[in-house]
Amino acid sequence: MKKFIFEYPAKTLFPHFRYFFFCSIYLESNYGTKEKLKSRSKKGFCSIIIFALVVSFTAYLPFIAIAGENSEEKKSRAVSITDEIIQMRSGLAQTFIKPDSEITEDIFKNVCGAVGKRVKEISEKEGFMIRHAALKNRNPANAAKAEEIKLLEEFDKNRSLKDRWDTAEIGGKKYMRYSKPIFVEDACLSCHGSKDKRPKFIIEKYPNDRAYDFKKGDLRGMIEVMFYDQ
Ligand code: HEC
Repeated sequence: MKKFIFEYPAKTLFPHFRYFFFCSIYLESNYGTKEKLKSRSKKGFCSIIIFALVVSFTAYLPFIAIAGENSEEKKSRAVSITDEIIQMRSGLAQTFIKPDSEITEDIFKNVCGAVGKRVKEISEKEGFMIRHAALKNRNPANAAKAEEIKLLEEFDKNRSLKDRWDTAEIGGKKYMRYSKPIFVEDACLSCHGSKDKRPKFIIEKYPNDRAYDFKKGDLRGMIEVMFYDQ
């Protein structure tokens, strides 16, 4: 982000520097013919250059501020999205999963299904890329990729690591990525617990399911929020 803030003015100011460079050559070429004005024009020339540089730089200050602010805003929004999604899933699971009640697809729609919908809504409205990744995944699209496997292993090993900022390369572009681990709670176990006790609809709908046999406190996966930042 810092890189972006500092690179931006340098790039945009360049045409101005070029303009003043040509101005200075022009003034310089007329310089020798006006000997009387020599010392006065020298001072004048310097002050024009300094004045122009100050004016053009201050003209870009608001852009620099906005660029920085946008990045900071996106960063803090990425953090709040992960918190919202993790808390939403946990709250819904505690509300809708009753001990010993049959878990149907309708109940799922109120838990991980509702979370999926909310993720889609935020991505479409706010332009973030949001993804879940797991070593033992249920939805094949959520299977962890090479660099995600590394992150998940790190989250699993080091429980004091609460989140991580890094970059991800998507379609040749660099994205800022914020990731946060998701842990298994009691309310998750009716669908992510023992293999044999999984609800019927899950066995039928996810033939390659690997998201079972978890225990409370296990790392279930992670959520990643990514945004493009030049
Ligand atoms: C009612 C059953 C049900 C409950 C309860 C439930 N899940 Fe899920 N979960 C699913 C299903 C089904 C999927 C696959 C959704 C899809 O197709 O994208 C899933 C997917 C996930 C994923 C995405 C990664 C993957 O494997 O595809 C995570 C992370 C996850 N669940 C975590 C949790 C956590 C944490 C809890 C408890 C707070 C929980 N789930 C409770 C059924 C459930």
